[in-house]
Amino acid sequence: MNLIKGYPESMRESIEKVEKTREKRLKEKYQQMSLDERDEVLNKYHPDYKPEVKRKLSIGSSKEEIVPMEVADLIESYPLVSEKDIDLTSIDYDVDLLIIGGGGAGTMAGIWATYEGIDPENILMTTKLRHGDSNSIMAQGGIQAADKANDSPEIHYLDVIGGGHFANEPELVEALVSDGPAIIKWFESKGVMFDKQKDGTMITIHGGGTSRKRMHSAKDYTGMELLRVIRDEFINLSIPVIEFSPAIELLMDDKGQIAGAVLFNIETHQYYVVRAKATVMGTGGFGRLHIQGFPTTNHYGATADGLVMAYRCGARLRDMDSVQYHPTGAAFPEQIVGLLITEKVRGLGAQPLNRDGNMFVHPLEPRDVESAAFIKECYGASGGVETPTGMQGVWLDSPMINMLKGEGTTERELSAMYRMFKRFDINMVEDPILVFPTLHYQNGGVVIDANGATELKGLFAGGEVTGGVHGKNRLMGNSLLDYSVFGRRAGISAAKYAKKASIGELTLSHVTRYRKELEKAGVPENRKSPMILPEYRGRNVLSRAIDIF
Ligand code: FUM
Repeated sequence: MNLIKGYPESMRESIEKVEKTREKRLKEKYQQMSLDERDEVLNKYHPDYKPEVKRKLSIGSSKEEIVPMEVADLIESYPLVSEKDIDLTSIDYDVDLLIIGGGGAGTMAGIWATYEGIDPENILMTTKLRHGDSNSIMAQGGIQAADKANDSPEIHYLDVIGGGHFANEPELVEALVSDGPAIIKWFESKGVMFDKQKDGTMITIHGGGTSRKRMHSAKDYTGMELLRVIRDEFINLSIPVIEFSPAIELLMDDKGQIAGAVLFNIETHQYYVVRAKATVMGTGGFGRLHIQGFPTTNHYGATADGLVMAYRCGARLRDMDSVQYHPTGAAFPEQIVGLLITEKVRGLGAQPLNRDGNMFVHPLEPRDVESAAFIKECYGASGGVETPTGMQGVWLDSPMINMLKGEGTTERELSAMYRMFKRFDINMVEDPILVFPTLHYQNGGVVIDANGATELKGLFAGGEVTGGVHGKNRLMGNSLLDYSVFGRRAGISAAKYAKKASIGELTLSHVTRYRKELEKAGVPENRKSPMILPEYRGRNVLSRAIDIF
């Protein structure tokens, strides 16, 4: 196979047009859309606004909730195990607190449950891959927090609910924004190296849909830096972790409480029974379902296992009809299609351009609006820039960054991105980069309260598996804040709960009940979940990203 390196001649013609319009554009300001204009582009071009790609759930606690087809199929699937497969009298781990998921939310929960007085020896984290393998560690652009003099949690609140189309749960947004400044201070105290001015002031920039500059970053590997520090803290506290062992079913007890989980070791294929007085779920979202065939920014384990398990026990879901497509996934070269090109590239001044080198949308509209505008440009207007494999994209004029902010800015502030493109002989300081929307985030999820408690006794959750914080559209930088705030709150609440809880007889009868509902609804027997890892064999996968529209 010939791997593509550098831009082919067929794309160079358009790059020359970009270069010709640059001087003029450097002086231009582009207006944001009016609310009506935003509605129009969303309705016509955003993948979420196509009713035929979703359906109502036909069974369970959120029956009638509209969800993407791929999610409905996963939720309306048969369990991997039945009651007779698992001996619940043989308990492999007996703990106060079980944490399912080794990303940001789970790690924060473990730390704060320990601070709350749970002995680390009585905590167990289980994770599908390695501790840290998660979307949290892959986050690039930053974490929002209203800690500057011209900002406030109230202003942050308004941005969050405006971006979320006013569908957010107010008490969750309040928790998110009011904990923000203290979370940043705590991260700093633990050793996170945020970007700073020479005088020590935090550098903060805009993200899409923010009315103040409140994005705190560590170059373009903010997620990596945060997780480096919290994983160290977690290890220093000596909290036990078992890796490569996803939970495949939650356990309940005869009093109706969540009481642990059944784990499956993906290397040895052994099952483990964990009995726990409290359980925190930080299992992340559904990016690897490749909704509507989109490529994704997500890590391999993002298969919505937590949603599936919690739903079988009776947890309610919300806002599951809304899927986030990040406007700037890489569209060229083929080897990196769908990978994240951080919003910080636009935050630092790169403009989105069509194939004639003209700006067609403000660089920092809320994510859903920006994505819809890109799709319109590629498939509804004159057509995008075409790659040798037939994919369409729009330019991000990255050379503008150094022109606007000074030589060396891109290399310094976007060092991971700069290096990634260099590997393919593309110098983003000299040439623009090609982008197209990519599946990024599950906006909705399991219903929680402001303390990270689900509606099921003994089950707590934080991060992407939950719904309500971001309404129908999350703004950049609020996912790192979400896992920090609600991972912490869930850990504290779970610790308090565990101190008082007593567990009755363990049961998987909810699995049997759910199976009966599936049978009654006529769901085909060959559908099974949780998925654990996505399937990457077969023709449908090869055509992904090219055939989206
Ligand atoms: O664009 C980004 O860096 C992504 C950030 C986020 O999803 O919060």
